[in-house]
Amino acid sequence: MRIDILTLFPQVFESPLSCSILKRAQDNGLIDIALTDIRDFSTDTYRKVDDKPYGGGPGMVMMPGPVFDCFEHVCKLATEKGRVILLTPQGQKFDQAKARELSGLKRLIFIAGKYEGFDERIRTGLGAEQISIGDYVLSGGELAAMVIIDAVVRLLTGALGDEASAKDDSFSEGLLEYPQYTRPEVFRGMKVPDILLSGDHAKIAEWRRAQALERTKKWRPDLLKENEERKS
Ligand SMILES: C[S@@+](CC[C@H](N)C(=O)[O-])C[C@H]1O[C@@H](n2cnc3c(N)ncnc32)[C@H](O)[C@@H]1O
Repeated sequence: MRIDILTLFPQVFESPLSCSILKRAQDNGLIDIALTDIRDFSTDTYRKVDDKPYGGGPGMVMMPGPVFDCFEHVCKLATEKGRVILLTPQGQKFDQAKARELSGLKRLIFIAGKYEGFDERIRTGLGAEQISIGDYVLSGGELAAMVIIDAVVRLLTGALGDEASAKDDSFSEGLLEYPQYTRPEVFRGMKVPDILLSGDHAKIAEWRRAQALERTKKWRPDLLKENEERKS
């Protein structure tokens, strides 16, 4: 998968991309990530990319010119057209189903905003899909892009040490994951449930399923409702 990121702050991506699963995925050639600085496409002597909003109001708005020029440049860097994603709190809320959908694509192009956000013509003119990572406002789209990239890349075949681990993760079957334990068997008086020490794999699977269902009912009943609605 090729991932392009259009941003005013490429340095934000350095650390998360240089460790753990994301680093390994790049080293193994599973993903190819290219960062492009929108500021390089400013035509202004001072490399300006934002301006005051028409009609007045606080803050600065990202100008369309540098974003369009940057986007057109990035599009030509690979033959695959790809999915263009505009990061905005006004977009469709990101979830595991969207992560799965995006993990099946060959190319993703992310456009990260800053300041008061994008000139409206960026939204209407680029034909991008708008995605939000939640109902809160970040100061820039960089961390939102990183969240999406991390969730998508761990679903790519070969990204995780053990392919099975993503299968049982919360949300993959519409449920929260069952409780997990590791050594020691007893910690500060809290004991690992006997069933997990029994060696009876069928019983363990049954217990885990029941636990996953129980905690989803208790903590996230909305997920069960969504599943029902999807099935009907
Ligand atoms: C301060 S925000 C602008 C918010 C804008 N004034 C609004 O109310 O819709 C600056 C940038 O951060 C990014 N951003 C902020 N919150 C986000 C979220 N929840 N999901 C995705 N991107 C977000 C977007 O790229 C946005 O253009």
